[in-house]
Amino acid sequence: MQTQVLPINEQSIALAADLLRRGELVALPTETVYGIAADARNGAAVKKIFTAKGRPQDNPLIVHICGMEMLAGIVACVPPRAQKLAAAFWPGPLTMVLPRGPEVSDVTCAGLDTVGVRMPSHPVVQAVIRASGVAFAAPSANLSGKPSPTNAADTLADMDGRLPLILDGGESAVGVESTVVSLAGEHPLLLRPGYVTKEQMEAVLGEEVFVSHAILEKLRPGETARSPGMKYKHYAPKADVTIVKGSWQAYRAFVAAHAGPGVFALCFDGEGAALAGLGVPAVEYGAAGDGASEAHRLFSALRELDKAGAKTVYARCPRSDGVAMAVYNRLLRAAAFRVVEV
Ligand code: TXA
Ligand code: MG
Repeated sequence: MQTQVLPINEQSIALAADLLRRGELVALPTETVYGIAADARNGAAVKKIFTAKGRPQDNPLIVHICGMEMLAGIVACVPPRAQKLAAAFWPGPLTMVLPRGPEVSDVTCAGLDTVGVRMPSHPVVQAVIRASGVAFAAPSANLSGKPSPTNAADTLADMDGRLPLILDGGESAVGVESTVVSLAGEHPLLLRPGYVTKEQMEAVLGEEVFVSHAILEKLRPGETARSPGMKYKHYAPKADVTIVKGSWQAYRAFVAAHAGPGVFALCFDGEGAALAGLGVPAVEYGAAGDGASEAHRLFSALRELDKAGAKTVYARCPRSDGVAMAVYNRLLRAAAFRVVEV
């Protein structure tokens, strides 16, 4: 299959809408990461997403909408907590898991009785949904297991020949996938951290948002994941990544002691030159202590390490609260949970 990459204009939006209505795939930018869209009501269309990504069939997809009225048929109900979170954070990088409605395909939900829904703020997504009238299922546009793409070039690197169209809308502003919160149980439960933080949701809801332990810990053997996506190896570059927790001085000494062929550093802005001076090439991934800046850079930094031929990567450890919880969560998976304290 020929994959076209088109700039955003009326014709390319109309073409994307037409492809979606005909049950085909379209890769497109969102404010979080690039996604691969297919009509969420059309099981045969959604199956093509799983094939294009090499994604396990039991990992459900998020349904994207552009107005509250589009929830009809997709979810069974909009509970008061969902109304509050939607009013505060939609359109934006928040996915809510709700009881599933009758129209969404089994393939989209991977057979679960819940469905994840989100209303993205990106103007291209909104334009495509409006032009097609299609609520679309869309996972991140990477091959399964690779870091999510945050621009059209990284999307093409993974999806060339696998789908007909990529809309090029520049770089994604947020850089990590949406926050996922389940509102289908007794208490709100954070399943995946993102740009919308636990603290922000608690302020709006006036109650505690519980945190799934799988966010910052490995699943125990035999345990079933509340969010099936959490059980898979994720976000992994080709190199072996280790997170090094400690002060800048201790990190620099650790990296100096472990320098060698194929060894790279993944550090904060302004630190790369000092490491290069030690003979260790470095990729910077945002400002120390600034979760939003690290989130924006993390996935493209991981892909840069691959392109540079890194074999072993020592990563500076981000914070684990606020937006940085999302950064730490993705980096932990990229590192297969290897963390050393120095
Ligand atoms: O920012 C985003 O959310 C991007 C853009 C494209 O919108 N999409 C995205 O989709 O990250 P994906 O498929 O890569 O991640 C969806 C996550 C997975 O971890 C999945 O297991 C979880 O959401 N999920 C989806 N539906 C669920 C459900 N009904 N119950 C629990 N977890 C669910
Ligand atoms: Mg993904």
